[in-house]
Amino acid sequence: MLTFSEVGHEQEENAMRYETQVDILQTLITLHQQQRDQKMLGEVVKVPVSHYTDSDILAQEMSTVFRRYPIIAGHVSSVSRPGDYLLSDWGKFPYVVVRDQTGELRAFLNICRHRGARVVSGNEKCLKVFVCPFHGWVYDLDGSLKHVTKAYNFPELDFRQYNLMELPVVERGGLIWIHPTPGSSIDLDAYLGPIGDDLDHFGINELVRYRKTKVVKHANWKLLIMTYLEGYHVPYLHRHTLSKSFHKGIIAHYEYGPHIRLAAARTNFPDVLRTAIHNWSILSFASVYYLLFPNTFFIMHPDYVSINTFYPEDTDRTIWTHEMLYRESDFQDEKGQKALANRFSYTNDTVFDQEDFAVAEHVQAGLSSGANEFHTLGLNEGLLAMFERSIDDVRSRVEG
Ligand code: FES
Ligand SMILES: [Fe+2]
Repeated sequence: MLTFSEVGHEQEENAMRYETQVDILQTLITLHQQQRDQKMLGEVVKVPVSHYTDSDILAQEMSTVFRRYPIIAGHVSSVSRPGDYLLSDWGKFPYVVVRDQTGELRAFLNICRHRGARVVSGNEKCLKVFVCPFHGWVYDLDGSLKHVTKAYNFPELDFRQYNLMELPVVERGGLIWIHPTPGSSIDLDAYLGPIGDDLDHFGINELVRYRKTKVVKHANWKLLIMTYLEGYHVPYLHRHTLSKSFHKGIIAHYEYGPHIRLAAARTNFPDVLRTAIHNWSILSFASVYYLLFPNTFFIMHPDYVSINTFYPEDTDRTIWTHEMLYRESDFQDEKGQKALANRFSYTNDTVFDQEDFAVAEHVQAGLSSGANEFHTLGLNEGLLAMFERSIDDVRSRVEG
């Protein structure tokens, strides 16, 4: 087997580290030769279906899993100029990220300190200050309360106690990250480890947004995410669609903490064996996916990036957002835009919505029938077990 040190290769731009690409492709070649799935579990695992129906479990997830980790607020192109802003897609956690007049990014809970209205509605073209629509209180872009209407009704109000609640925000590699807990901090190196290194090398900051959609699906947030975490279903559920693009459902996986990276061999995968190693480039032969714990699924295709995020509304209802990014030079003029529209509707509507999430909704609807007390995970469905275990670990950890 060749190793990286045996080849003299200069790292390509806009791809993950060359060493990592070679590593993944070599794992896929081994799996291809063995004609076996990569082993993920030592034994079959049973997951109680109550994980998807129990409102106490969801409440625990909300106060732990959804409070302790940074989340991607969006792509940097949405907030490139002073006054640009982006809003949360989740009513239970309303935030606003704004680029202030000095060029700094600031993030706040989008909640007025008077009586809790949303200070930014989303109809504003750009922001110079925050003006609450309910009673007109005004805040500066640094979150400080600047003006109270009819202030004589609030004698001796200490303005300093009424600033917007600030959230940590970090810009890295083209993505805006915030932390959902005021007063916390973001350490992306610790959170993402080597996966952050992958994301940095994909040149996401050079992409632009094509579209972002937001819909409610009638399934538990974990069931929706799990549709991405195994290749077992691809030849069956996606036999008329995705299975034509992927080579026998071969998947190489890697974990860092609760995060997961998956690489799926594409149909042309055998060509890698006829390609000189110094010309190997992962996206020519495989698609790469990341579960960024807890609720984001990040997809690197050869010609676009897809960011899918899942926000629980209830045990059986989840907001799904899908943002597609692309490189402008890859899809120019009318023909290019048409190709992009086709890519989006194929991925978003046909594969995700009508195949993966339709099944997740059927599964959810049947949970109360009593047919299954458990879902049974085979050895090739081990990443689902890992995802469940990561959530259980965080959920059961007592707040320090
Ligand atoms: S709730 Fe914002 S001014 Fe009253
Ligand atoms: Fe799928």
